[in-house]
Amino acid sequence: MSGTPEWQALADHFAKVRDMHLRDLFAEDPGRAASMTVEAADLVLDYSKNRLTGETVRLLVAAAERAGLRERTEEMFSGRHINVTEDRAVLHVALRAPEGARIDEGGADVVPEVHKVLERMASFADAVRSGQWRGFTGKPIKRVVNIGIGGSDLGPAMAYEALLPYSQRALSLGFVSNVDGSDIWEATAGSDPEETLFVVSSKTFTTLETIGNAKTAREWLLSSLGDPASVRNHFVAVSTNAKQVAAFGIDTANMFEFWDWVGGRYSFDSAIGLSLMISVGPELFRQMLAGLRAVDEHFREAPLERNIPALLGLIGVWYNDFFGAETQAVLPYDHYLAKFPAYLQQLDMESNGKRVTLDGEPVDMATGPVVWGTPGTNGQHAYYQLLHQGTRLVPADFIGFLRPAHRVGNHHDLLMANFFAQTEALAFGKTPEQASAEGIPERLVPHRTFPGNRPTNTILAPELSPRVLGELVATYEHKVLTQGVIWGINSFDQWGVELGKSLALRIVPELTSEAAPELGHDSSTNALIARYRAARRP
Ligand code: F6P
Repeated sequence: MSGTPEWQALADHFAKVRDMHLRDLFAEDPGRAASMTVEAADLVLDYSKNRLTGETVRLLVAAAERAGLRERTEEMFSGRHINVTEDRAVLHVALRAPEGARIDEGGADVVPEVHKVLERMASFADAVRSGQWRGFTGKPIKRVVNIGIGGSDLGPAMAYEALLPYSQRALSLGFVSNVDGSDIWEATAGSDPEETLFVVSSKTFTTLETIGNAKTAREWLLSSLGDPASVRNHFVAVSTNAKQVAAFGIDTANMFEFWDWVGGRYSFDSAIGLSLMISVGPELFRQMLAGLRAVDEHFREAPLERNIPALLGLIGVWYNDFFGAETQAVLPYDHYLAKFPAYLQQLDMESNGKRVTLDGEPVDMATGPVVWGTPGTNGQHAYYQLLHQGTRLVPADFIGFLRPAHRVGNHHDLLMANFFAQTEALAFGKTPEQASAEGIPERLVPHRTFPGNRPTNTILAPELSPRVLGELVATYEHKVLTQGVIWGINSFDQWGVELGKSLALRIVPELTSEAAPELGHDSSTNALIARYRAARRP
């Protein structure tokens, strides 16, 4: 990409606009906010508080077209194997395709399969919610614990929390991911095994953390219920790997299937969302799918300059590759979206944290940023200082809602006042002249000046409903695709997680075996392991 005339045009343009200030851009164009606001489905994106002009957007769109964003999008939607290093289709969009749509993969239409699994999930979720599904001793289920990690945890955990106001409160949900025994310990402490259902979620069903936690959960169950036959009532599996599910001892009649064409981090709306569906019910889960679908259609059809996911992706590229920004903050002004940044970390960083192109050549530009964030207003009293006055450029997405989940006093007005105030303060700052005019003593003026020109996107939606949550997730999924296409990388593999995994497997016996095998690592790792081994001795 970097050798193309479109990229060069962006570089030339950058040299002209890099020092422009948002104060001037707004002063010069009273219609700026209106022309830089896009609406799609239930979402409104105002990207006017970014350091760009209409020409920037035109050039970014030209770069996206040159990179083949449209073609790659169509390839994805039509089941082509765009995950080239794993020779797989990338069809999370099929998970929300309507009945009657047709998407072929491996010579077969996958949409009927998707709906078949959705139906099975719905019957099961209804059975658990209604108390018809019983534990081994005949008690209804009151606690559901999803055991999974990465994409088999972050999505359902995030969405469960996001949709808590819509959940069946009599059912408590827990999410166990960490191999640290404290996680399963806390998730089971105080729970009644007779009333607990474990949903073991793993695409591969070989993931060390998940299988380890599932074994411990089974021991916990059996230490109380005794009879191995009880596993059938208290364990279900979500996986692509029926063989491993059976090997673990879960009846494949209690397995909910998904497919290798759903990437782990793109899977929360597949059967991986089973625990979420149990919590909110099949109807609201379907509303969430409709939200995802609405943004899929928008992304596929809207012109790129009016296309919310594409614009977010392109604006991100602008800061990442021209301004040299290294991070991207995501700041949801909604308590229930506390886990959304963590979910996006995997979605974005596992997808676009790549250093070679699709052809295996080194990428000659910066790829995925470090994604982070926490809900407003908490961040304001923690790290926003750096956003306002630090030396780094931190582009930020602000996500807010017109209506709160709960009308508690004037809390929502206070929250949203902060939401609007922050993007205004970041964009326009406070000049030394303004500070002086406020009577600030001269020696303090530099400290109390705000440079402004700190870029933000504002995403507004009516309320955090299941449908809107789906829209937000699809927006970021397609943002990630947009950026991956520009950088020419494979956003759908994750080889970078493998080395640590295989080294850990090699180290396990070095920690646990009585024979204390000789250590063949570097001097640092050897010494650290030796110290651990010494401490482990009785
Ligand atoms: O190690 C990374 C990863 O493969 C993620 O991509 C995936 O979401 C996670 O592990 C869990 O994998 P699985 O669902 O197969 O247990």
